[in-house]
Amino acid sequence: MAETTKKLHIKTYGCQMNVYDSERMAEAMGAQGYELTDDVGQADMVLLNTCHIREKAAEKVYSDLGRLRPFKEAKPDLKIGVAGCVAQAEGEEILNRSDLVDLVVGSQSYHKLPELVARARNGARPVETEFPAEDKFDHLPARPRSSRPTAFLTVQEGCDKFCAFCVVPYTRGAEVSRPAGKILDEARALVEKGVKEVTLLGQNVNAYHGAGPSDQGGGDWGLARLARALAKVDGLERIRYTTSHPNDMEDDLIAAHGDEPKLMPYLHLPVQSGSDRILKAMNRKHTAESYIRLIERIRAARPDLVLSGDFIVGFPGETDQDFADTMALIREVNYGMAYSFKYSPRPGTPAVGREGAVPAEIADARLQQLQALLTEQQRACQNGMIGREVSVLFEKKGRLEGQWVGKSDYLQAVHVRGDALAPGVLARVRITGASTNSLAGELIG
Ligand code: SAH
Ligand code: SF4
Ligand code: F3S
Repeated sequence: MAETTKKLHIKTYGCQMNVYDSERMAEAMGAQGYELTDDVGQADMVLLNTCHIREKAAEKVYSDLGRLRPFKEAKPDLKIGVAGCVAQAEGEEILNRSDLVDLVVGSQSYHKLPELVARARNGARPVETEFPAEDKFDHLPARPRSSRPTAFLTVQEGCDKFCAFCVVPYTRGAEVSRPAGKILDEARALVEKGVKEVTLLGQNVNAYHGAGPSDQGGGDWGLARLARALAKVDGLERIRYTTSHPNDMEDDLIAAHGDEPKLMPYLHLPVQSGSDRILKAMNRKHTAESYIRLIERIRAARPDLVLSGDFIVGFPGETDQDFADTMALIREVNYGMAYSFKYSPRPGTPAVGREGAVPAEIADARLQQLQALLTEQQRACQNGMIGREVSVLFEKKGRLEGQWVGKSDYLQAVHVRGDALAPGVLARVRITGASTNSLAGELIG
């Protein structure tokens, strides 16, 4: 047992997998007597759980480190650790770039965090960026009581796709899936602690192929099989997953969207571009046409499915025609929600230094045009909800008196008033109003 309570501040950048990892790091450090604090001024230890996906995200870490200097000067005992994808990508280099950093820990080594912190407290500056053979999750403490009815659950890590722009295959390593039995155990433990909805996470979550539990015949389980087994867990009401790759969207997963009511009708399925030339240059290994046909099959299984996507503009060689093809694909698919980015050259990726760099003004203009179209589609999707009945899983109090906020089946934020509402209540709601980012509704019955 730790003698005194120390305070830990974690700042999380990047994707949901980092959010999940930050929770697990907090749990690992909790077992060492560290309590979480939102206040950097109170902290004995600060962990930056970083993202390397675009230059801006990676550079933000260094400006944030600079901002920690006065805290370290005021409290020389304060230890600062860099975790996550920048740690994995830059390793030792981080120690050279910032004298404030006491330890560097890559995303596959969080179970070693207590040991690394102890070494840092003894004056060393440890760096741990191996991809160890053991499962880090086996060495992390059990999940504590959740204060929320929703939870992330990492089922798969890493990526074997090697899109020409992307650092993830280098920062997260090869695709690895956790055994289904361990995921089911973790889900049951979460449900016991009040969780009603899990979002299964993976850099390529639908590439999940894990060992089936031996008491259910073992074998290889895909994501559909895993989702169906999770749907049988009593008390677990909703299942989501993210992020998927079009090439891993197998028939049984599409079928599950049609006949497994606990699998929510929302799918994040990035396509990046609508131009076959650019898709080829990106090494996406699918065409615009094959993506559109895939969406048709998924919508045939689940017609009310809300689709979300990711887009990159300004990839090297992207012409006006290529961009027009992306706009055309967006019009054809019709997204309820989407994320879009300007191409950012990343060190060590194949696209770096390719011919045909798109000038920043052109990329900016394309991004604006694309986002205007996506916002228009999002508004139409939100407005289309008015008058419809949805189920809402309530999560927290709203800003107005007596108001609660939860998520619809389609992952939209819904504001509702009701005396009996509380976090974890799942209720039927009629949608009465819509804005770009949220809906308003009233309880039915
Ligand atoms: N595994 C997921 C998400 C990867 S990162 C997938 O395959 O979709 C999330 C998004 O960031 C990507 O979908 C892509 O749109 C964007 N992204 C990745 N690398 C980028 C880069 N170098 N420049 C700009 N956007 C990038
Ligand atoms: Fe990156 Fe492509 Fe892998 Fe997604 S599929 S993580 S974009 S390399
Ligand atoms: Fe960023 Fe790493 Fe996630 S690079 S998007 S935090 S996998």
